[in-house]
Amino acid sequence: MKLTSLLALSLPVCAALAQPLPESQVRQRAEALLTKMTPGEKIGQLSQLFYGIVPGMKISDDVIRQGKSGSFLMITDAALANRLQHIAVEQSRLHIPLLYGFDVIHGFHTIFPVPLAMAASWDPSLIERVQGLAAHEASAVGVRWTFAPMVDIARDARWGRIVEGAGEDPYLGSKVAAAQVRGFQGPYNGAPDHVLACVKHFAGYGAADGGRDYDSSWVPEDQMWNVYLPPFHAAVEAGSASLMTAYMDLNGVPATANTFLLQQVLHKAWNFRGFVVSDAFSVRDLATHGFAASPEDAAFRAFTAGVDMDMGSMTYSKQLPALLDSGKISKAELDAAVLPLLEAKIRLGLFEHPYVDESRVQTVFNAASTREAAREAGARTAVLLRNEGGVLPLAKTIQRVAVIGPLGETSDLLGSWSLANSHAQAVTVVEGLRAKLGPNARVEAAPGVQISRRYPSFFDLIFGTKPTPKWDAGQARTEFSRAVDLARNSDVTILALGAAQQMSGEAASRSSIDLPGRQEELLEAVTATGKPVVLVLINGRPLNLTGAVAHVPAILEAWYPGVEGGNSIADLLFGDANPGGQLPVTFPRSPGQIPIYYAHTLTHQPDTAAGFTSRYWDEPSSPLYPFGYGLSYTQFAFSNLHTSASTVAKRGKLTVSVDVENTGSRPGDEVVQLYIHQRFGSASRPVRELKGFERVALTAGQKRTVEFELGPEERKYWSSAKHGWVEDASKFDVWAGADSTASLHTEFDVTE
Ligand code: NOJ
Repeated sequence: MKLTSLLALSLPVCAALAQPLPESQVRQRAEALLTKMTPGEKIGQLSQLFYGIVPGMKISDDVIRQGKSGSFLMITDAALANRLQHIAVEQSRLHIPLLYGFDVIHGFHTIFPVPLAMAASWDPSLIERVQGLAAHEASAVGVRWTFAPMVDIARDARWGRIVEGAGEDPYLGSKVAAAQVRGFQGPYNGAPDHVLACVKHFAGYGAADGGRDYDSSWVPEDQMWNVYLPPFHAAVEAGSASLMTAYMDLNGVPATANTFLLQQVLHKAWNFRGFVVSDAFSVRDLATHGFAASPEDAAFRAFTAGVDMDMGSMTYSKQLPALLDSGKISKAELDAAVLPLLEAKIRLGLFEHPYVDESRVQTVFNAASTREAAREAGARTAVLLRNEGGVLPLAKTIQRVAVIGPLGETSDLLGSWSLANSHAQAVTVVEGLRAKLGPNARVEAAPGVQISRRYPSFFDLIFGTKPTPKWDAGQARTEFSRAVDLARNSDVTILALGAAQQMSGEAASRSSIDLPGRQEELLEAVTATGKPVVLVLINGRPLNLTGAVAHVPAILEAWYPGVEGGNSIADLLFGDANPGGQLPVTFPRSPGQIPIYYAHTLTHQPDTAAGFTSRYWDEPSSPLYPFGYGLSYTQFAFSNLHTSASTVAKRGKLTVSVDVENTGSRPGDEVVQLYIHQRFGSASRPVRELKGFERVALTAGQKRTVEFELGPEERKYWSSAKHGWVEDASKFDVWAGADSTASLHTEFDVTE
């Protein structure tokens, strides 16, 4: 079934409001309820507690009965959700229902490709649909609030959480952010079968010093407004019901008590109407941070900065009563924090329909169409990095296939935040290839090497995951040779290399971006057999592939492709799907280039000047693979780039058009990308900035004209010279093409 028709399926609608309530009614009901609430009940609504799948975090039913917690996170089971909801609705004084939140990041039961991969699709409609399906599954068990989209711009491949976002670019990041909000929330905030979005982590988290998770971010105003904030703004504009703060210090002030972010930007500049939740324990941690003097001070600073709900730490429930009694916090301030939370519950229809129908959960989870969507998404997000001599696609007549590497037979295809899924459901690479080639082919696997973290993941510690026993030196030698022999005796080898799931994500930063362990050594030994080799990468960050490129003719970056990963990869390798994903992040030549991103500014001595190398003397300034890059099994040509006018006045719009043609012999997709550069102005501007894109599908020989609008929105920027938004009269370069190095060029002037 085509993905486009998936949402048209008449899946049973979960109990919720089939129409949006008028906003005036929402407000009236929330205000009326507020008048009946005691201060304790109000503070309870501001407290969210862990429960459910987090081991050891059991909460007494009395907490709910007494209205001491308005929300739980990590509940994934409909029966538990209903049981607790019955207590809240039937046994608490005011019958206020609970709101269940969960990290529905890239799927709930059915895991889709990780967010970085989804961004590599450059396909907002795919992203919207997939998040709609995820919302559908989550809401079936009662989860009506997701902690997503994660929209942190990341330009440092060492940062573990780069996998959770849309990569390095604010324009692409904004489109992806808005698409996710639309997908999660559906036609309106509170729509049935949908969940509330929570854009996170506000803001600048991806700029962590050295790529070390939670470390300080130092972001100057130009970068803040032009790079880090736009995806948040896009999510807010798309109607994100809530926002989550971040853990780190931003310019010396923890984000959870940062009044610049929470007041000046969020409320004053953007007029945000939703509610703000802290990150887990980040209210309590204001004291750990060396910022707040005590838990009371932490609660005071977070609350007065604008954090409505305390996730997990119980600092609000313990400290706000005294702050209220002493008058440090007023009743009006407390009411202002509680009101948007009550409104959210009213909009969701939780008062009318607090329970879920447990009997329909398995039907929703087992919808074949959702699995098909996952398979298609896995194929649409992969990026073909290299295909020398047209090694790919492989012929289905191949008899003997070796799958070598630690990712060949693992379910580690899901990526971080796949907590509600049983990994047993993941289709491995080997399984996908066997299904594709049928019983007459021999598909055999050997890991060759093991990979592991030096320090364990805190998720493994929390969930008690047992580490895989390590091979001794003899076993390691035997396994390595077995893998190489298998490659030697096969017609083709698929090298399934990359990183284990817990090597990317929260608290999963690395100092290196090489293939972990002895994988590169294995790659060299396997390619030395002289047999055809294809490298399939399963990972969640840009890797140092300089060594791999020297040996392997074909590289497919599959990211963590999700529960259908093995099938998606098999579809791509054998040509049933044609790769059309393109990089949402620059791949460096070596880790020493980090941070590296295409939208850097010029220097006084540009890199292109003859005889000068302005950056390194031992490495070109260019990356291994640029932002926007990705190949296909067909070829595309761009021509006829022009603007509708050569001059436009400030605030005026013009249109840019370009022709793209499939010059190869197969149907395929190309992402047409538009970049501009402002040559002079009140501040230096990046050498290139993405300002438009469209993923187009073309049959062999087909040609299309793609148009983009370039108006003041695309040209304005935050000038640190003016401390505000400006649109300059200037000369602009325009490029269109297949990646951020596109050479087809034109220009136009903007006049006063
Ligand atoms: C901490 C993470 O930083 C955040 O992204 C997540 O939503 C919360 N934990 C809840 O799981």
